Amino acid sequence: MSETHFGYRQVPLDEKQALVDDVFHKVARRYDLMNDLMSAGLHRVWKDALVTAINPPKGDQEFALLDVAGGTGDISFRTVTAGGFGTRATVADINAEMLAVGRQRAVERGLDHAVTFVDANAESLPFADKQFDAVSIAFGIRNVPRIDVALKDMHRTLKFGGRLLCLEFSNVDVPGLDALYELYSFNLVPAMGRAVAGDAEPYQYLVESIRRFPKPNAFADMMRDAGFARVSHRVMTGGIVALHSGWRL
Ligand SMILES: C[S@@+](CC[C@H](N)C(=O)[O-])C[C@H]1O[C@@H](n2cnc3c(N)ncnc32)[C@H](O)[C@@H]1O
Repeated sequence: MSETHFGYRQVPLDEKQALVDDVFHKVARRYDLMNDLMSAGLHRVWKDALVTAINPPKGDQEFALLDVAGGTGDISFRTVTAGGFGTRATVADINAEMLAVGRQRAVERGLDHAVTFVDANAESLPFADKQFDAVSIAFGIRNVPRIDVALKDMHRTLKFGGRLLCLEFSNVDVPGLDALYELYSFNLVPAMGRAVAGDAEPYQYLVESIRRFPKPNAFADMMRDAGFARVSHRVMTGGIVALHSGWRL
């Protein structure tokens, strides 16, 4: 049986998803608070950059976003708020707890008319071909066991002329910042997880999975293999994250 990584652990490919699901099951209720704490609010800046790139139309023109591994709905809320009356978003996520938190947030923000939540696996999306103007996946792709399969399925659901935007942690390559980031990731992040969410283990997985994720150029090749054209990326905050882009042409 083929193997993959769950953080630094080598695990059978078919067992990774259950381990990932367990992580997000544990963190769902504290997910948004922990994002703010662990990134010192920076995840908001990175997500804003993603939404700017999605570029939803301001007018009544129809625009459909599919937000894969969309969790508690952040990217979708930001996109429908940035866009006009015609902008709609679908959050697709495999984890019922993350979706439940998202549905509640949508109601609280008065955005439930514009954002739909669907229980779905990124590797086999329950949507017809060529449905969406844009597909986003933020901090999600590294959790998916078969990244190549998920990329192909996201490509399938895009309309011609549609764009995939993938925000993911990357490699810090600024001297000085790299050592600081390493220290922060492997010491403070799990400790904050223990202190605030009562469990260090999910946060240890988080930092390990970031290190295991392919470098931006290797990921760009995976996007091209899945059929995306005009593939590009830009790094932000000294390489802590990268925003990848590819088009269905
Ligand atoms: C780090 S969270 C990101 C959530 C959201 N995109 C954000 O930026 O706040 C990762 C999400 O990926 C989801 N996920 C993991 N594997 C998945 C899969 N195979 N299909 C769909 N979602 C998946 C998890 O349930 C979790 O909600």
